[in-house]
Order: sequence, then structure tokens, then C-alpha cells
Amino acid sequence: MLIHETIAGLRAARAKAGRVALVPTMGNLHDGHIALMTQARAHADQVIATIFVNRLQFRPGEDFEKYPRTFAADCARMEAAGVEHLFAPGESEMYPQPQTYHVEPPTEQAGILDGEFRPGHFRGVATVVMKLFQIAQADVALFGKKDYQQLMVIRHMVRDFNVPVEIVAGETVRAADGLALSSRNGYLSPAERAEAPRLYRLLTELAAEVRQGARNYGELEAKAMNILSMNGWAPDYVALRKKLDLQSPSAHDSDLVVLAAARLGSTRLIDNLEV
Ligand code: PAF
Repeated sequence: MLIHETIAGLRAARAKAGRVALVPTMGNLHDGHIALMTQARAHADQVIATIFVNRLQFRPGEDFEKYPRTFAADCARMEAAGVEHLFAPGESEMYPQPQTYHVEPPTEQAGILDGEFRPGHFRGVATVVMKLFQIAQADVALFGKKDYQQLMVIRHMVRDFNVPVEIVAGETVRAADGLALSSRNGYLSPAERAEAPRLYRLLTELAAEVRQGARNYGELEAKAMNILSMNGWAPDYVALRKKLDLQSPSAHDSDLVVLAAARLGSTRLIDNLEV
């Protein structure tokens, strides 16, 4: 695997790489990332993975500073997964001067759900992903469904800006007890880790009720939030939404997804399940 720290270096390699698949990450790789890289291989001649902890998508007081940086272990995992190129720029390469232009997703996409609780987060994500698209000029880019709203925002951004890249979604990879793999799971204490799978269990139950015909979405959401609160969580939201744009469904809409975010101790977990 070739490691590129500069945009010029990556571009030179990309020019010789044929059809390219891009897998953007912030590092601290887990099996979910590796599954995306393996999936990427089926779409391209060469895979470019990226590691860049993007300051723009963290709010003051969030975990930018303590976000786990595990570069050597990440490189070993990517080598084993057969990734050809790693783009791992420093901040001064990606933001040599403060970023003055930003990609501003519309409020109806970026001001809801996670965007309501993390104002500016999706602006930071969209801006860095647009930069990565300009830098890597990939034919296809892969993003996990674990970050369902991020995937939706990126799909709309690509469509609205006519970016010539195909967006492919990867399924969420889970631990045996159902907990969605996430770099932030490492923040959980043993007791919190034992409690954490409740989030997925609740989503599973809620999705099953909807599949069986329940349409009292507000009540179902409130019940799930209440169960989380009673078990020591601080839920931000549990919400049934339309898959396509994450807007609230009416009773006759199909193609739904249930999404949740909740804090367990100081760790904020998100998860979702397509209905
Ligand atoms: O999902 C992530 O890890 C990040 O949001 C991404 C897409 C790499 C942009 O920084």
C-alpha cells in the first residue's frame, strides 16, 4: 500500500490507477470500515482509502482532540484488506489556510435529527467530502449506512453539484450482540458496553411493529425514548423517517428507516434500521 500525504502525490498515483473506488474515513478502523474497503474492490481496479480527522465537522466541546488516532494499526488492516493507496494528509495539507468556502446542505436535510443536535456537523462533512472528491477524482465512493443521514446528505450533494462519482452504500456491521461497530464504542466503560446493545434491540422491535402494520409512529418513538431514559440513557431522538430524504412519513408512506441517537454516560451512540 502506498501512503500519500500530499494532494499532488495522490493525484499522480490516481492518474495511473484506472477505475478508482474511494473509501473516506477518519481512521481508528473497525470491521465496518474494512467491509467497505472489501466491497470497494468489486467496483474498481484500485482502492483509495483516506484517513483524515476533519476538524470542520466537530463542534467545540466535541471529541475532536480525543478522537482515537491509531495510524499504524489502521495501515496494517488496510494492507491486509488489499487497499492500494492511503491518502493521509495533515491538516496543513487539507486546510493550508482557513477554509472560506463551504458546502452548506439545506436545513431540511442537515438541520434535522443529528444536525439538530450537532449544528454545522453536516456542513463540515459535506465540505471535506467535496474536497476529497475533487482531490481523488474517484469513479465510485463508499459510505456506511451506519451514518444514514451523512449518506443521504452526500447523495444529494453529488446530485445537486453533478459530481461524477457513484455513491455506494455499505451495510452496517454489528458485534454479535447487535451493537453497531463505531470508533466511539471504545469510549464505553464495561458496564456501558453491556447496556449499549439495547439501542439496536429497541430499533429492531420498533421496526417489527411497523412491519406488522403499526402506524402510531409518534407513540412508538416516545415509548422507545422512554425505555432508553429508564435505563440510564439520555436520548436525543428516536425517529421513523422516509429513507430517501429522512422527512417524516405519512401513514401511507413505505420505505422507512428508524434512526436513533442517545448518550450513554459521556458517549453518544447513533444507529438506524431500515424497516
Ligand atoms: O464518516 C466519517 O468517518 C466521516 O464523516 C467522513 C465521511 C470520513 C468525513 O470526514
